[in-house]
Amino acid sequence: MTHPHTDFIGFSGKRLQLGVTGSVSAFRAVDVMRRLQRADIQVGVTLTAAAQEFVRPLQFRSLTSGPVYEGLFDSNQAEYAHLEPAQNAHLFLIAPSTANTLAKHTGGIGDDLLSSQLFSFKGPIIHAPAMNPRIWTSLAVQSNVSKLKERGIGIVPPDTGLMACGETGEGRLAEVEEIFLYALKGLLPQELAGQRFLVNLGPTREYWDPVRVVTNDSSGTMGASIALAAWLHGAEVSVVRGPTPYLWLPRFLPTVDVTSAKEMHQACLDLAAGMDIICLTAAVCDYRPVAVQKNKAKKTSLGERITLELEQNPDILADIGRARKPSQYIIGFAAETDDILRHAQDKLHEKHLDLIVANSVTHPGSGFGTSTNQVHLISRCGRRESWPLLAKTEVAMRIIEWFLDHSA
Ligand code: CTP
Repeated sequence: MTHPHTDFIGFSGKRLQLGVTGSVSAFRAVDVMRRLQRADIQVGVTLTAAAQEFVRPLQFRSLTSGPVYEGLFDSNQAEYAHLEPAQNAHLFLIAPSTANTLAKHTGGIGDDLLSSQLFSFKGPIIHAPAMNPRIWTSLAVQSNVSKLKERGIGIVPPDTGLMACGETGEGRLAEVEEIFLYALKGLLPQELAGQRFLVNLGPTREYWDPVRVVTNDSSGTMGASIALAAWLHGAEVSVVRGPTPYLWLPRFLPTVDVTSAKEMHQACLDLAAGMDIICLTAAVCDYRPVAVQKNKAKKTSLGERITLELEQNPDILADIGRARKPSQYIIGFAAETDDILRHAQDKLHEKHLDLIVANSVTHPGSGFGTSTNQVHLISRCGRRESWPLLAKTEVAMRIIEWFLDHSA
């Protein structure tokens, strides 16, 4: 399953070699390949002999124009197949990767085509391990994983859950979407490495009795796209998330879940001082009910009218802006219905921001509940740009690029 906030595209020209090894989850390598192709990445494949017991090379050959390798001495393939990915691919991803393949890579054993190809490959290499939980947690495997990580090899942590063998534990192949995101990260320059990046996202909910609530339609897509775009560029990202029950977030984004604006305020302020970059995208409810009833409010008569008295919530962004360190870079969003640029400019100054990203929530295809956005950027030093209607993932990537180009 794909999501609007993971739908990063524009990797055309990038080539990836996908190693597939002998795990029962080998069939999911086809989904990994298809997911990469949706982002315009060209995929070549190397199957070990054990992998071919689970999946057929023809399956991959039918779906990719890239080379599909079956073995060291396969007569149908290039003479120097063991050197080929090193010359042509930008990234080597092994998914699923067995304990045996991890051990061979750690120890420098090249007794088949895949392990031989890894010898000469100088670009980034990522393993997505899959195995029984007792094998995954064994000393031998954990020691090999540590050694590979020390050498800068990427490891997509396996998932926890029910295994094909009936046991439950850590060892399942990670979700396709997570493997895909690790691969994208491997293809991008890590220009935000060492930077701590805070994103808040989604709506807040302000209850006035146990079942009734004041809220808005924010889906969290824009904020999740920014959190991922920052992570893809190497940042250490923390997320504070308002109630977005249908928003999938990968395990690698540490997330604090909150409900109300007050809780979001507290969670963001707790984290903000330790952050280098702060990007607040949440659609925080500006008001909350003054009185919260303990029990469900009952209707007293037919056609009655009631009045809900509201009081103001704290302004998270303004409070963070007020307490900011000069070294921090703060990005805010502005949701407007009219006079967008003037209102956004005012918020930029009033909340002490470096950059404000403004959109018209009434513009078709923009704002809440869409996968696209049309935004205007205004920076503290007076730079202005208006971008066309773009996928929110594209807006997120461009905001990160803007930061990299203009923050120094
Ligand atoms: N924001 C916030 N806390 C609030 C309200 C808004 O942190 N209580 C943040 C939003 O996350 C966004 C920016 O402030 O980054 C602007 O939010 P927006 O809703 O556009 O405007 P408001 O500041 O609420 O002002 P108004 O509703 O009057 O337009």
